Amino acid sequence: MSFVVAIDGPAAAGKGTLARRIAETYGFHHLDTGLTYRATAKALLDAGLSLDDEAVAERMALDLDLSGLDRAVLSRHEIGEAASKVAVMTPVRRALVTAQRRFSGKLPGTVLDGRDIGTVVCPDAPVKLYVTASPEVRARRRFDEIIANGGTADFEAIFADVKTRDERDMGRADSPLKPAQDALLLDTSEMSIEAAFLAAKSIIDERLNSN
Ligand code: DC
Repeated sequence: MSFVVAIDGPAAAGKGTLARRIAETYGFHHLDTGLTYRATAKALLDAGLSLDDEAVAERMALDLDLSGLDRAVLSRHEIGEAASKVAVMTPVRRALVTAQRRFSGKLPGTVLDGRDIGTVVCPDAPVKLYVTASPEVRARRRFDEIIANGGTADFEAIFADVKTRDERDMGRADSPLKPAQDALLLDTSEMSIEAAFLAAKSIIDERLNSN
């Protein structure tokens, strides 16, 4: 059986970095499930279709090929905005969750990161992590990243955006963002990504040994 590491948390908390590091360390397959919502939204935008039609959005989600997901192409702000709109649609979630569960069965193990992995997609995962940080810290990280890449950014606008996305992700009726009851909480506003990785590694090693 595949060994699943489920990672959830709000945007810009450091889950992606942590997920990639864990996947690399253990030789596990990694799926950033946010990309599945982004790719569904992009397919609708590219085809000039409405973002409000659930049946059309469901069709796009059912047709999605998980092997072609590219973070560089899907990272645009407008795609993120459109993704959060299709992510509230139950038929879209159902289709993408089915594909994500299929992915989670890959051997020898998988790391999935998103908003509902420990609660909905893989509730039986032996390791569940909830990675978070204060909205200020997450906005600051995003701001620093844009500046470091030579761009220009407005901190207040980014901060407002982080808070809006939190409200949307946590306030959604279907599969809202929340820690699974048995998740290990890692607050990266108080600890470095390195310290979070070591805490994650220790629980993964313990569960791998008891398997
Ligand atoms: O993490 P991200 O910004 O790539 O996510 C894009 C959108 O998809 C965001 O609005 C949250 C949503 N999402 C979700 O509802 N469930 C997931 N498992 C992953 C992402």
